[in-house]
Amino acid sequence: MVRAMTSDASLIARYDARVPRYTSYPTAPHFAPLGDETYGGWLAAIPRGAELSLYVHVPFCDRLCLYCGCNTAVVRQERPKRAYAANLIKEIGLVAQRIGGAGRVTHVHWGGGTPTALPADCMVAVMAEIRARFAMPADAEVAIEIDPTSLDAAALAALKEMGVTRASLGVQDFDLKVQQAIGRHQSFEETRAAAEALRGLGINSLNLDLIYGLPEQTPDSVRITASRALALDADRIAVFGYAHVPWMKKHQALIADETLPDAASRLAQANVIREILEGPGGYVAVGLDHFAKPSDSMAQAMSTGTLHRSFQGYTTDAAPILIGLGASSIGTLPAGYAQNTPSVSAYNAAIAAGRLAAAKGVALTADDRLRRAVIERIMCDLAVDLPAMAAAFGADPAPLLRDGAGVAPFVADGLARFDGARLEVTERGRPFVRNIAALFDVYLQKGATAPRHAQAV
Ligand SMILES: C[S@@+](CC[C@H](N)C(=O)[O-])C[C@H]1O[C@@H](n2cnc3c(N)ncnc32)[C@H](O)[C@@H]1O
Ligand code: SF4
Repeated sequence: MVRAMTSDASLIARYDARVPRYTSYPTAPHFAPLGDETYGGWLAAIPRGAELSLYVHVPFCDRLCLYCGCNTAVVRQERPKRAYAANLIKEIGLVAQRIGGAGRVTHVHWGGGTPTALPADCMVAVMAEIRARFAMPADAEVAIEIDPTSLDAAALAALKEMGVTRASLGVQDFDLKVQQAIGRHQSFEETRAAAEALRGLGINSLNLDLIYGLPEQTPDSVRITASRALALDADRIAVFGYAHVPWMKKHQALIADETLPDAASRLAQANVIREILEGPGGYVAVGLDHFAKPSDSMAQAMSTGTLHRSFQGYTTDAAPILIGLGASSIGTLPAGYAQNTPSVSAYNAAIAAGRLAAAKGVALTADDRLRRAVIERIMCDLAVDLPAMAAAFGADPAPLLRDGAGVAPFVADGLARFDGARLEVTERGRPFVRNIAALFDVYLQKGATAPRHAQAV
């Protein structure tokens, strides 16, 4: 039975637990120390001819935004950037050697930080090394994250030479008061100029990132930002809730807790942005935090149940293996997850000495694989058939069904439906999808070692 007229405020009070974003399962805080030998063995075990995705992490920026939760630092000198790029090139060789030149790379994602903070010739050289060491089909996707204020003519020329097909522009908010509070100044015109320049190169697949829950934001202010974002005509728009984790990201302490909107305002802001994007914008909601034009491959992947969730968030990339390159990058291998050391100096030292740079990871158990698939389908499709999933993995459905029964309070609040087999998140439940996925997270249930996550909504 659905509780009558459950208000947003009471939903938040009930479900404001701190839960992971489920870009992996088990989630990164549960990774344990992992040696080079183990990682090297995992790479060597990759089947010949396997489809691979590569993630290249660039931990440099021209500016440090106060809210930033990424692994990055402001670096302006060229020397450390060139040294890092040389090590990326070396790491590509080390990885290709372990895999035995067997991989077919269908997707390369450059993230950061700000990849375009690298000298232009370094970006081109790293991409050329990837193409030299792996087989890359002509239609392979090359995606890159871009800070619109650091996109000069040399970087644009490099993107063209690298064969970039998709670009993601960081916006966050166009409101000057908000920009002041988060230490990120970026005019609408600058962002529009970057989008036009990218389209001029033939890069027609554009994504924008927005954030709600920042200081000075209100439902009215984000309505204006979302409406202005429509004018940029992006194919996809990601709308992230600000993750305030000053215990992990010290510079976020410069954003005082009391300046942040409360959970009810965060939910109101998320709802207003959604109304604008779905209404006048004509975008369709994808998973927890993405919107895509109906013609975009992400919207199509959602409607065919082929959307995936990786460390980069939602993706249409179906390659089952992701290899991380660069400091802090995380790979998904058949055997398990492997993360490179987050320290740039430790990364440089390991690679320069001819070693791999993995520091942490986790080997996947059969139960991890099953629960990972359940959580991925809930996060992507907002629905999962528990007995069918158990059958696909040759597993007993009973433990999943037991965990699924925990959805009862969500059902009572109109956030989910459960017929004893198929679990479905309702539209109203979309903002709480992480809480529902968490029902299947045995690591979270163990509680004692639970790390602190950001707010759910
Ligand atoms: C690597 S950055 C994007 C590229 C580029 N560095 C820029 O800022 O334009 C990736 C995105 O993560 C999001 N992000 C960063 N820190 C966040 C936080 N603490 N909470 C929520 N989203 C965050 C922002 O939307 C940002 O655009
Ligand atoms: S949001 Fe982007 S530009 Fe700002 S510090 Fe983070 S990675 Fe760098």
